[in-house]
Amino acid sequence: MTKIEEFVKEQADKNGRERTSLMPILQAVIHSERYLSEEAMIAIAKELDLSTADVFGTASFYTFMDTIPRGKNIIRICKTITCHMKGKDAIIETLEDMLKIKLGETTSDGLFSLLQANCLGWCHKGPVMLINNEVYPEITPEKAVEVIQEYLKKG
Ligand code: FES
Repeated sequence: MTKIEEFVKEQADKNGRERTSLMPILQAVIHSERYLSEEAMIAIAKELDLSTADVFGTASFYTFMDTIPRGKNIIRICKTITCHMKGKDAIIETLEDMLKIKLGETTSDGLFSLLQANCLGWCHKGPVMLINNEVYPEITPEKAVEVIQEYLKKG
């Protein structure tokens, strides 16, 4: 049994093997591994007696469930209408220039991934940037640079 198969089995023992256990187990894998590998999703399907298509379909429905490895810090810029109208494109361009990556990519040192997200629920304070679980409302290109510099100091 591989490490991830063992982990999934432990989670199934803890959360149960019903259909409703799928989300907590997916979240546990994301929390532990930072993404959902194909191997993990196959292991989940086996443990819960679901089809792999069911598990893949559920995972791909949620933008926060990454199915490819990401950087240590995941930057998500809200792409929904209010933040779009309030200038999210300028934030993205600034971060692409600063980090030398395009949207959807990860820096070569593995420190940052730059992604878009659907509405983050802070529309009145847009544009909004999320880094891991930290929300940065009313972000400007200048503020975004300052925030990233702080993360760079932390390493
Ligand atoms: Fe961006 Fe809602 S539209 S947080």
